[in-house]
Amino acid sequence: MSGDGAAVPVRRAAGVLVVALISALGLVVSGQELPAGAGRDDILKRCVSCHETDLMTQQRLTRAGWGRTLDKMVRWGAVVEPADRDAMLDYLAAHFAPTPAASHLVATAASEAVYKRACLMCHEADIIESQRLSRVGWVRSVDKMIRWGADVPAADKEALIDYLAARFRPR
Ligand code: HEC
Ligand code: HEC
Repeated sequence: MSGDGAAVPVRRAAGVLVVALISALGLVVSGQELPAGAGRDDILKRCVSCHETDLMTQQRLTRAGWGRTLDKMVRWGAVVEPADRDAMLDYLAAHFAPTPAASHLVATAASEAVYKRACLMCHEADIIESQRLSRVGWVRSVDKMIRWGADVPAADKEALIDYLAARFRPR
């Protein structure tokens, strides 16, 4: 990535100035949209003096990607204590990770269709969605419903269980 280390481009610097001005006027409340978690305080302290949190929360990066961004921000003037770096990276990587690939989304849409067709025939969704079960728990639940008459094709069963386990898992 040549150019990353260069001085902040003028257009960007101007944008930052506007953000800083708005912040100074108190119109922007920094950090409101950052979820709680270890490392959050450091992010608020070190990362929102030049721009709002949205620049971060819009990104979806791997931990390595966040490492590169952090290094770039340090080159641009952010202060990151070496002792805080890991916690900040853990936080960013945990909350702003890459979204699943499109193929996964398609699979999910298919699973959702199975769910709606097979599981909402006898009762409403709330009886299902108020449950918080592990994957094993959902296997038992789906097996029970199949015994009770739910029509889940064998080929769709795993995907349906994945769907349920991903959405309605123990808190
Ligand atoms: C010294 C000022 C400054 C600090 C402090 C700062 N940034 Fe930035 N950051 C910038 C500038 C300038 C941009 C480019 C803004 C633009 O494109 O409008 C930017 C952009 C970003 C972007 C958008 C993607 C990109 O790479 O351009 C992310 C993500 C980001 N910063 C994360 C962080 C994180 C995490 C921290 C805390 C370690 C941080 N920033 C601290 C100046 C700063
Ligand atoms: C043939 C009818 C029928 C179908 C189809 C059906 N269920 Fe049920 N389900 C029931 C009945 C009957 C109950 C008990 C309702 C009650 O307790 O009021 C129930 C209750 C539940 C409960 C509440 C906890 C429990 O075990 O009693 C869950 C969770 C559940 N179903 C999940 C599912 C899922 C997931 C599917 C799709 C695979 C599904 N159901 C499809 C009949 C069905």
